[in-house]
Amino acid sequence: MVERPMDERAILRTELRWVIVVAIAVLIIVGSIVISSAAVVLHPPSSVERIDPTTLHVSGEFVEDNLGAVQNRDGSVTVRLVATQFAFVPNCIVVPADRPVTFRITSPDVIHGLLIVGTNVNTMVMPGYVSEVRTTFPRTGEHLMPCHEFCGLGHSEMWSRVRVVEPAAWQPDENGRVSCETPARSPVEEAPEETPQ
Ligand code: CUA
Repeated sequence: MVERPMDERAILRTELRWVIVVAIAVLIIVGSIVISSAAVVLHPPSSVERIDPTTLHVSGEFVEDNLGAVQNRDGSVTVRLVATQFAFVPNCIVVPADRPVTFRITSPDVIHGLLIVGTNVNTMVMPGYVSEVRTTFPRTGEHLMPCHEFCGLGHSEMWSRVRVVEPAAWQPDENGRVSCETPARSPVEEAPEETPQ
């Protein structure tokens, strides 16, 4: 049996039909983007706060002794971090549970990513911009915070930890800071590990 070639007009009609279907799909997609960004003010996470990546360590918000967790006047917490090849500075952070925490992070070198495992914190970190993420940790515990953007040979070694403690155990020092080195006084003191030789 020989198949009859389709009538030219029929082919044209089918093609036109599909052009219309695709055009409608494109209109719906573009329309929803325009409406969501204009009316609902829904934007992809964007970093519009700029910073000079070459002077981070010299002056301004991200100098080394200004990094880490600090208590604000309203009781909320701000954590400032620098993501650099191949570490987060500081590489351990202590925050209280049930309190608003704002992460502010930037990079002096290349693009990194910040992800706090088990939470909704997930952002890219770009040199020249400050990425800001707000969250509240509902439970105490320790979260891994790896870099999730390939940033070079040491990428897989680039990670940090976020320790969430009871709000009462989060005791800022005279500068309002809490770090892993001056740990929150935990209700149960850790017994020093004995290593008999
Ligand atoms: Cu930093 Cu990958």
